[in-house]
Amino acid sequence: MLIGNKILRYAEIDSTNAEVKRLAEISAVENGNVVAAALQTAGRGRRGRLWESPLGGLYFSVFLTPPNLPNLAGHIAMLTGASVASVVNELAPGAPCRLKWCNDVVAPGRGGQGWRKLSGLLAESVFFGEELEYIIMGIGININSVSQPNSVSCLELGAGVSPEGLLPLVLRELDKNYALLGTAGFEAVSGKYRELCVNVGKEVRVFIDAQVTEGFCRGITPDGHMLVETAGGLITVHAGTATVRGEDGYS
Ligand code: BTN
Repeated sequence: MLIGNKILRYAEIDSTNAEVKRLAEISAVENGNVVAAALQTAGRGRRGRLWESPLGGLYFSVFLTPPNLPNLAGHIAMLTGASVASVVNELAPGAPCRLKWCNDVVAPGRGGQGWRKLSGLLAESVFFGEELEYIIMGIGININSVSQPNSVSCLELGAGVSPEGLLPLVLRELDKNYALLGTAGFEAVSGKYRELCVNVGKEVRVFIDAQVTEGFCRGITPDGHMLVETAGGLITVHAGTATVRGEDGYS
């Protein structure tokens, strides 16, 4: 097993992604190593946001040194989301976890208030010139409580599991899917992602940098991009965030 071949555990850290980066800068971390913490004091979210990380959640980062392939960090983040969703679906009655393009693991909130975030994923790539040096794949999962708005926890879904119990399950699934990515390419692992994606067939609002586009999600390409039919025609969205109509203030 590559992913999780060594696990460094901390009672408290600023951010597991930041710690992996510090270790990488002094060559003290190897391909597949994991840094996990019981709590983070400065957990990093996407778009410079803070990821609240109190005791009781699962916070960890994987250090990876893959070959430099197009959109690799995106593919790794997507297969990580699919891995987390699959594992929690094995544990929770009714397999409620889905994926919201491109990097959120979601499940229905209590009282059916739409999709709530169960897990956040942050893939950070570090380059030396044009050369990809490494990728840090950071994963935060709400286990017993939620600390971010619009979130849901494993406990609320009926998946009774501790952070220590969930970590090896996610690492095993991630390792399996990452190995498949290496041998067969993203198309071989994207089926699960596409099957669980909540955007497909829905009206979506897509945020690409400062631009907002609305349309109908016609699917996810085998390469992981989102196809959106807009008033101006079919577009392929490579990166960004998307909300589904009826949620997050999009009515
Ligand atoms: C998001 O904004 O959805 C991404 C959140 C990613 C949080 C995880 S927790 C473990 C790892 N360390 C960090 O500082 N961030 C990621």
